[in-house]
Amino acid sequence: MSNLPPDMDPIASLERAVASAAGEVAAASSIDDLEKVESSLLGKDSSVGQIRRSMGGLDAELKPKVGAMLNETVTRINEVLTTRRAELGAVEEELRLREESIDVTLEAVRFPNGALNLVQQTIDEIVDIFVGLGYQVADGPEAELAWYSFDALNTPSTHPSRWEQDTLYLDWGDPGDEVNLRPHTSSVQARWMEIHDPPVHIVVPGRCYRKDTIDATHLPVFYQIEGLVVDQDIKFSDLKGTLLHFAREFFGPESEVRLRPHFFPFTEPSAELDVSCFNCDGGEPGCRVCKGGGWLELLGCGMVDPFVLETAGYDPSQISGFAFGMGPERVAMARHGIDSLRHFIENDIRFLRQF
Ligand code: PHE
Repeated sequence: MSNLPPDMDPIASLERAVASAAGEVAAASSIDDLEKVESSLLGKDSSVGQIRRSMGGLDAELKPKVGAMLNETVTRINEVLTTRRAELGAVEEELRLREESIDVTLEAVRFPNGALNLVQQTIDEIVDIFVGLGYQVADGPEAELAWYSFDALNTPSTHPSRWEQDTLYLDWGDPGDEVNLRPHTSSVQARWMEIHDPPVHIVVPGRCYRKDTIDATHLPVFYQIEGLVVDQDIKFSDLKGTLLHFAREFFGPESEVRLRPHFFPFTEPSAELDVSCFNCDGGEPGCRVCKGGGWLELLGCGMVDPFVLETAGYDPSQISGFAFGMGPERVAMARHGIDSLRHFIENDIRFLRQF
């Protein structure tokens, strides 16, 4: 217990403390400042602190009055402190937000994103559909022996597709091999069957070459996706059902397909497959996609010729198969209403950006 300095009147001191508190508190300009003010007003060495410590030594009649006054003083001072603390807190919060804010109106630095070419996107999408059916993805060389491009596929040396006006030959290796830039991915059929037993379920995306002059419907370098299925009891209906499934996955669930008789040396019977126009409801005269025909030509297909199976070492009396070959550029043209193959090789950014 300590005594007050002899000249200190507790009541007057507390009145002064309350009277000056408001001004001192208001002068604090930060939360840190305010803490110092708080301890100078209510701390151990403040008049409030001194009076509190000396309470025990006060005269009995003075004690309740000073006690009540002390409580009142502390309450009032705490009120002003609380109010000021809230004000300063809001100001500091506001300042911090302003300092940490970012200017969303500043122009951003843009890094353009590249994207896959439409042909590659189309290949990926088609391959995915067949992988979803359990097919494996296969590939083979672009520079190919005539055996795989033609002979093993029942295409005799007299067949016009082998002539130099159609197929590009390389002056390379043994002249008897007639090394060529493969004109179709069907060569991989022969390569695959040579080293795999049935069942076969493969798709073969790859680049092909033909001696064509560039125009709206021909490119000398283009892509094909070959499909081959060989197993026991594979029927023409399996071919049609598979391609219908593909057409509906790729062009939409309403799609229909139709087959038109055709000829390929390596399939018998052979057909071309058309898909119903997805843009109009079957041949609207002005349709920009089918030009009013109602159908879009998609691919060549057929049942694998027994000669091809036999050449691969398979027994055509036990197994059968179907094959198809499609051009992803052509499929992309059909889907997007693109009017010329030239767009695929011109690298015009305005065209490429659309996909
Ligand atoms: N190879 C044929 C072409 O290039 C397409 C095809 C593949 C046809 C498989 C039937 C079976 O035109």
